[in-house]
Amino acid sequence: MSKNIAVFGTGYLGATHAACMAELGHEVIGVDIDKAKLAKLEAGEVPFFEPGLEEVLRRNISAGRLQFSDSYEEAARFADVHFIGVGTPQKTGEFAADLTYVNAVVETLAPMLNRPAVIFGKSTVPVGTAQRLGDRARELSPAGEAVEVAWNPEFLREGFAVQDTLHPDRLVLGIDRERPGRAEEVARQVYSAILEKDVPFIVTDLATSELVKTAANSFLATKISFINAMAEVCDAVNADVTVLADAIGHDARIGRRFMNAGIGFGGGCLPKDIRAFMARAGELGADQALTFLREVDNINMRRRLRMVEVTRDVMGGSLLGARVAVLGAAFKPESDDVRDSPALNIAGQIQLQGASVTVYDPKAIKNSRTQFPTLNYASNSIDACRGADVVLVLTEWPEFSNMVPEEIEPHVRNRVIIDGRNCLDPTQWESSGWEYHGVGVPTLGRRTDVDVRTQ
Ligand code: UDX
Repeated sequence: MSKNIAVFGTGYLGATHAACMAELGHEVIGVDIDKAKLAKLEAGEVPFFEPGLEEVLRRNISAGRLQFSDSYEEAARFADVHFIGVGTPQKTGEFAADLTYVNAVVETLAPMLNRPAVIFGKSTVPVGTAQRLGDRARELSPAGEAVEVAWNPEFLREGFAVQDTLHPDRLVLGIDRERPGRAEEVARQVYSAILEKDVPFIVTDLATSELVKTAANSFLATKISFINAMAEVCDAVNADVTVLADAIGHDARIGRRFMNAGIGFGGGCLPKDIRAFMARAGELGADQALTFLREVDNINMRRRLRMVEVTRDVMGGSLLGARVAVLGAAFKPESDDVRDSPALNIAGQIQLQGASVTVYDPKAIKNSRTQFPTLNYASNSIDACRGADVVLVLTEWPEFSNMVPEEIEPHVRNRVIIDGRNCLDPTQWESSGWEYHGVGVPTLGRRTDVDVRTQ
């Protein structure tokens, strides 16, 4: 059954959700306060890089199922189903999440709701937020108790946002157990095309649904920091973390996915979500339960520092005057997102130690320039590598992992490459005469001259 849906927020989450809900056959209005962003979306342009999203957006605008507006009145008149998809960034100077935007949606929308409506929150929020927003919405709305707030966390990954929204591995819905209302029935109608394909649908209370999201991201962050901690140990004994990950990954209880050692996790979600989770646990008096997340965060941040140290070491102990090529700026491939990007963070630290750093990324140069205007930017790998004393690969875009030494060899000053994502074949580079350094993988010289059994 087709629904009239409003989606508040048109960032990575909101724009994708709005376009995908239209793709499922619903009538959708995407709402934002940023007029420039709305103008782009109305013209069928996605304001960020997300594979496949532009096609879905254009198809549904042309079909007349998808429109955009900055008017909450229009959204309240048009829709009975509302999704909150605005950001919950980290507060400046604190670990906690900044709920300004989520609160603003409810404060603005609820007074305009004069007939029964369901508001589904999708943003990642501290546990307890949904209950509070529900109370507030009922207080502000002329429809009172007929306005429901439910929570429907989003698990999409950037780079796979359309696929993850249309073919999720599960749907989770938190409803107010005191006032069950129509939220579950409405969610089943909204997602009927997905549920028909036997996607697991977990209906629970509000608090559990909020925790599912933060727990999932904490687990993923822990998995990455676990393998990065193993990489540190491997480095100490010249062992190979990639082989280790492959070997333990065969155990189905462990699994190989999300166990790639490297410069660690970044982006707009994992770092701030584990911090917000720690902050919330502190407020709830359960901070001891999550002290391990501080270590997860520490291991992750240590990766960035370590990469700077390795670069300094290969330069003979000082970065002053060194020419460093950085390939990759986005926090991961298939994205132009540089929020808390380990690659850019490392590039910035190296520059601050006196090196001249030139960065190239296939999609993230524009965003990088805004965040780090003092770095040099090149428009391709060869230009970035021109005259370089050392080349760093910091985001595993296919054009870097498929790169062969001959491509950049004539342009560099020294044949030294540091692979921050373990995405290159060490043998290929070493047999071409390059000095290769990975993360938790032995280097050529050390591979033969150290025998782990004798340590
Ligand atoms: C994440 C979650 O995966 C998603 O479910 C949630 O909805 C939002 O947060 P995203 O931020 O898009 O998604 O990125 P993700 O693919 O999870 O990668 C996060 C970071 O971890 C990246 O910087 C990536 O490079 C790094 N990573 C990932 C590793 O260092 N090693 C790995 O094995 C996997």
